[in-house]
Amino acid sequence: MRTFQVVAGGGPVAPATRQVPTPSAGEVLVRVKASSINARDLLIVSGRYSIEVPPGRIPLSDGAGVVEAVGDGVSRFRVGDRVVSTFHPTWLYGRFPEWGELHGTQRDGWLTEYLAVDEQSLVAVPEQLSFEEAATLPCAALTAWSAVSGVGPGDALLVQGSGGVSVFALQFARLAGARVLATTSGDEKARRLGTLGASDVVNYVSTPEWGARVQALTGGGADRVVEIGGAGTLAQSIDAVAHGGQIALVGNLASGSGMDVTRFFRRAATLRSISVGSRSDFERMNKVIGRHGLRPVIDRVVPFEQAPEAFAHFENGPRFGKVVISH
Ligand SMILES: NC(=O)c1ccc[n+]([C@@H]2O[C@H](COP(=O)([O-])OP(=O)(O)OC[C@H]3O[C@@H](n4cnc5c(N)ncnc54)[C@H](OP(=O)(O)O)[C@@H]3O)[C@@H](O)[C@H]2O)c1
Repeated sequence: MRTFQVVAGGGPVAPATRQVPTPSAGEVLVRVKASSINARDLLIVSGRYSIEVPPGRIPLSDGAGVVEAVGDGVSRFRVGDRVVSTFHPTWLYGRFPEWGELHGTQRDGWLTEYLAVDEQSLVAVPEQLSFEEAATLPCAALTAWSAVSGVGPGDALLVQGSGGVSVFALQFARLAGARVLATTSGDEKARRLGTLGASDVVNYVSTPEWGARVQALTGGGADRVVEIGGAGTLAQSIDAVAHGGQIALVGNLASGSGMDVTRFFRRAATLRSISVGSRSDFERMNKVIGRHGLRPVIDRVVPFEQAPEAFAHFENGPRFGKVVISH
């Protein structure tokens, strides 16, 4: 089978061939139909991730496909079922457990034609979604779902930028009846965020003090901020959040000095860190996606053979939403 793998020292993923795996007891063999790229995957393949990833590792945490064969004792899926991966393969439900092994780092990932995985680590693809759409869900969508949880009508939520997590967060918050404000760096992206339901979009380049702008627009601040910038945006998020509101800490895309603890105290806000979500969270999210007919926003679908170009486009853009690889 054809795969791509991480190269020593980081760089474009390299093509390789491997044997099609045989599923062990409790495993299913998935014929992968689509995969998608997240910010973490880019760090991994470029050698910039926080833990060392061995050369030869197959990257990508997110993939969707068809069950091709099942090992002994498999009961959740049958041959022909449409399945999608989970980011935390061993976090099935409840509170976040110890970090387990993840695809793309300690285990081979989904940038391959076939992968044998524990049946417990998969969920069914929502009926109305294509494989390409389903492959966007395991990391970005579920993270957004977790970051938005508890938000409802009357709440104001702020998303940062137009990347994978933020666009899903906008979509889920609108479904929940909340008002959504967004920051972005370009006019065309601002227009598209508005089309998806953002009531107000602030350009964070021309308005570096966007926290005050969000305060003014909302008359008291955002009840929830989905924080994807981290150290570089947290100070503005603290300005933007309402008294008693919550900052859902998701990412660290923007470098900077972090937070002013005194200002944070004054807000009496909560800072909650997110780590994607559990399998049962994923299943609940998929029910809502199915019920409301939500469609993931895909920037571009790139053929499998052009996986290195997909990473280059993910890194250099311009893009809006998810980059998907069709296998
Ligand atoms: N904790 C978790 O469970 C979890 C899960 C998934 C992802 N993450 C992390 O969350 C972050 C976002 O992930 P992603 O997959 O959505 O990334 P992504 O698709 O690469 O997001 C890129 C977008 O982020 C926006 N952005 C970058 N710097 C910004 C800034 N200073 N202010 C506002 N927007 C900014 C830009 O939007 P514009 O082009 O519109 O300006 C850019 O297009 C990453 O750090 C990722 O590692 C964490």
